[in-house]
Amino acid sequence: MSFEKEIARRRTFGIISHPDAGKTTLTEKLLLFGGAIQEAGAVKSNKIKKGATSDFMEIERQRGISVATSVLAFNYKDKKINILDTPGHKDFAEDTFRTLTAVDSVIVVIDVAKGVEEQTEKLVEVCRMRNIPMIVFINKLDREGKDAFDLMDEVEKKLGLHVTPLSFPIGMGYDFQGIYNIWEKNINLFEGDSRKNIEETIAFSDINSPELEKIIGEKPANKLREELELVEEVYPAFDRDAYLTGKLQPVFFGSALNNFGVRELLDAFIEIAPQPKPKESDTRLVQPNENKFSGFVFKIHANMDPKHRDRLAFVKIVSGVFERNKPYLHVRHGKNLKFSSPNAFFAEKKEIVDISYPGDIVGLHDTGNFKIGDTLTEGEIMNFKGIPSFSPEHFRYVNNADPLKAKQLEKGLDQLMDEGVAQLFTIEMNGRKVIGTVGALQYEVIQYRLEHEYGAKCTYENFPAYKACWVLPDDPKNEEFAEFKRVKQKFLGHDKHGQLVFLADSDFSIQMTQSKYPSVKLYFTSDYHKKE
Ligand code: G4P
Repeated sequence: MSFEKEIARRRTFGIISHPDAGKTTLTEKLLLFGGAIQEAGAVKSNKIKKGATSDFMEIERQRGISVATSVLAFNYKDKKINILDTPGHKDFAEDTFRTLTAVDSVIVVIDVAKGVEEQTEKLVEVCRMRNIPMIVFINKLDREGKDAFDLMDEVEKKLGLHVTPLSFPIGMGYDFQGIYNIWEKNINLFEGDSRKNIEETIAFSDINSPELEKIIGEKPANKLREELELVEEVYPAFDRDAYLTGKLQPVFFGSALNNFGVRELLDAFIEIAPQPKPKESDTRLVQPNENKFSGFVFKIHANMDPKHRDRLAFVKIVSGVFERNKPYLHVRHGKNLKFSSPNAFFAEKKEIVDISYPGDIVGLHDTGNFKIGDTLTEGEIMNFKGIPSFSPEHFRYVNNADPLKAKQLEKGLDQLMDEGVAQLFTIEMNGRKVIGTVGALQYEVIQYRLEHEYGAKCTYENFPAYKACWVLPDDPKNEEFAEFKRVKQKFLGHDKHGQLVFLADSDFSIQMTQSKYPSVKLYFTSDYHKKE
């Protein structure tokens, strides 16, 4: 198969949702269609189960599973599908944000009864900011839930999207009869039997045909006709370009658990979802069909076996082909590296591959060379953009609890930060280290992993910050900046790249700072700077 065809057949995407909306179930059903797994229940949920064991043990368990589910690849029809796993738990949101830099599109799963939930809002906002094409899947139609129109209204208002349904439910919950597929113009009757993989599909190009009454009954038939009329009046016709540029989001309805509406979703997805897209670097836009390889690290999994310090760096291939044993330039280090056993992913298995294409993910064994955001090329000096750090929401001083193990603590912290577990700030005034995280759980993870993987012990102390603001003065030499630094010295630190950060203790303090020192600009993500 030609290089261009290999690119055109790839679909790399992520499924995002609030926990419990059905992401794992949907993933599993998609894999079943691809023949990648044989039975339901094969995909392990990577969510943190409440109350099962102590939190950090649960996180270790989750870490083990998430290596296996990081990338789930399978073939469906003539397409190669790569699903990138995105943790739903809010304490791991940053992991998800970074994974979203490696997807070409997204499926958003929403629970029909719960509607738009908090985590969905946050994740969709990130996708919206980057114009990532999104498909919405409304799940659990076998249960009583919100009215379809109300729900689409909620999606538009709360998520700031513009939707158009490509399927429409016939009834709901107890009265759920199936789905009218606007995209394929047919009706899918719901049997309510999760063991059945194939439901009955009846072609229905003319919704006004009296046959409809015979199949679903008079009242539901009239209701469906009215609803479809309304759909046509209220929502724009599907426009692929609008979808691809993030301006329009098609909506599908179904029940993942019952494997209902999933094939329709998948069939439409492979047709409309984008193939690997060009990506912006600090020097130019890189096209997937360029001859030379380039890619970037978006995720690192470390020390699954504490006896071996090996890590797996996940690289998304942006252009060219990645070949085993060929030297590639690690741009940040300025050195060439060869990989003798790059892993590709197939369902839940990893295997060594000789060659991979744009859109694919390769897992590279690493002994500490990589950190998140690193670029690999065939020699060109450039860095891919768009892997920002977000402001943490929790801050604590970290203290060494075992003076004999200071080196181990430093190394451990350094590596955990490279992995993206948390962010480390050094306070300018006293040189003390502050760990910033998006969730309180991370502190337990760090403590546990420092002890078990690096033999170091730490304790924490509260640091009264609420948000990290990256600081960029208009003029580093002016009096205003000097005063800002003097007044705020207790709250100033540097991130890992040496960037100045203001650890603000309240929104009020941020507002006051902005009005008092207008020439000192504050940013809430780290990607304003071009240094890295
Ligand atoms: P997540 O990954 O988004 O967190 O959700 P997950 O797929 O684990 O699904 C959350 C719960 O919702 C599961 O039930 C799952 O069986 C159920 N579910 C998923 N899709 C549907 C659907 O279409 N209809 C109905 N009625 N339920 C659905 P659970 O009881 O929490 O877990 P389990 O014991 O069934 O594994």
